[in-house]
Amino acid sequence: MIGPPADAQHVLAALSEIAAALNSVREPAAVLDVVLDAALDALGAERGFVLLETEEGGGAAPFEVRAQRNFSGEELDGVRPLSTSVVQEVLRTGEPVLVFEAGADERYGGIESVVLQHIQSIACVPLRLRGKQIGAVYLDAVKTRGRFTRDHLPFLRAVADQAAIALDSARREAALREENRRLLAEARNRHGFSEIVGTSPAMEALFETMQRVLDTDATVLIEGETGTGKELVARALHYEGPRADGPFVALFCGSLPDELLESELFGHRKGAFTGAVADKRGLFEAADGGTVFLDEVGDLSPKLQTALLRVLQTGEVRRVGDTSGRRVDVRVVSATNRPLSDLVEDGTFREDLLYRLNTIQVELPPLRQRGDDIVLLATHFLDRFATGPRAHVNTFTPEALSALRRHRWPGNVRELEGAIERAVVLARGARVEAADLRLPEPAADDALQIAPGMTMKEVERLAVEQTLEACEGNVSATARTLGVSRRWVQYRLKEWAEA
Ligand SMILES: Nc1ncnc2c1ncn2[C@@H]1O[C@H](COP(=O)(O)OP(=O)(O)OP(=O)(O)O)[C@@H](O)[C@H]1O
Ligand SMILES: [Mg+2]
Repeated sequence: MIGPPADAQHVLAALSEIAAALNSVREPAAVLDVVLDAALDALGAERGFVLLETEEGGGAAPFEVRAQRNFSGEELDGVRPLSTSVVQEVLRTGEPVLVFEAGADERYGGIESVVLQHIQSIACVPLRLRGKQIGAVYLDAVKTRGRFTRDHLPFLRAVADQAAIALDSARREAALREENRRLLAEARNRHGFSEIVGTSPAMEALFETMQRVLDTDATVLIEGETGTGKELVARALHYEGPRADGPFVALFCGSLPDELLESELFGHRKGAFTGAVADKRGLFEAADGGTVFLDEVGDLSPKLQTALLRVLQTGEVRRVGDTSGRRVDVRVVSATNRPLSDLVEDGTFREDLLYRLNTIQVELPPLRQRGDDIVLLATHFLDRFATGPRAHVNTFTPEALSALRRHRWPGNVRELEGAIERAVVLARGARVEAADLRLPEPAADDALQIAPGMTMKEVERLAVEQTLEACEGNVSATARTLGVSRRWVQYRLKEWAEA
């Protein structure tokens, strides 16, 4: 306890203890507890509380008790008129208030709680932050008269200043944590499964596979034509899984020159090459604890394929110019729109790397094979784009729907998304018409048409392939539609595949 006359060394020790305690807490409420305990301890006070501005500020009771020691609920209520008048004085003057003998004090002696609770000594200091009063610390003693003296004031002020700063930074940190939680929840919403629209059998199968691999670290290879939603799936795998709190880092492997890509992926040491003016960590290190998404992984050069294989085998990355590796904990998801097995066959992609990347392999079917998903997606995009001044656009004419179904969608979902966005702008009424979609005429669009000069075999093949596509690859349904046997269809398919 600090007793008058204040012993400088003692005061410093007490202050540094408080600073250390404040340093170890992060929650605003914990800051108040530390401050109160330290003040009670150092001054030998019996009871105390911290008042802070109410969140809303202003109002009838702009301050409220946020932490207290040794008051019963009843006493706290009883002491309110007293503390209110003491605190008002403190807040009015911005100066601490000391009461040596409350009963004899003309300002407070008449207040009921002073009499009933036998309060003898009171000390109250303002909590100030950047010149603004944000609250006060109130301490009292029942047993001792003259408990607090003017010698205590510098100490009390120092504690109050530290407390205000600690409280401020704890509040800011709490606000940032909250903001972070909110952003993450939003990212999860925006990049979750719920954003992937589709009920076709192929998409249902895909969702099922995704669910199963979500909480594993297995590498996932996503194959599919351009615009089929590969990146959407990669993000959902990250944001729906246990790594969602970690980073999602995407790298497009297609366009960068080799040296740049290598340093992007793995980082480099200062001086490793011209232009490497400082140490730099690569994307693998940046994604530690999260997911690395390698987009167009088939475009990696042989050199980088080898480097990537080494990372996958060892779990370590080595910065360009470094002699030793660093452990990283990442999940690798990759995407390609050319089947990697074809690239392996062509000799441009390492087979051993393919096997490292495709522990789980999923395929996004082209949009034209997703049946009613086309209409589902079109409606989804219509809802998204028909807002503000376009909010009155709310449906498609039957002709527009059939044009959507007929089109072959070489650009897949991305093309559909663009078409609907444009159509919503062009629509004149509440309904999107076929013309608003600006799709090419079916005859020009459909490369595969029965044309004069075709052989019967070619016509047969055309019929099978188109029906198969309309049936989303289902051989039995195709056979039924064409009025032939399943075996006949299978036989033909095999024949064409081998041709
Ligand atoms: N099933 C879906 N539901 C809703 N939106 C989708 C779906 N699939 C794709 N999209 C949207 O279509 C667009 C293209 O998707 P994405 O970028 O994931 O395709 P991609 O396969 O990565 O294409 P690319 O091969 O050209 O990179 C995005 O705007 C995406 O949000
Ligand atoms: Mg993509």
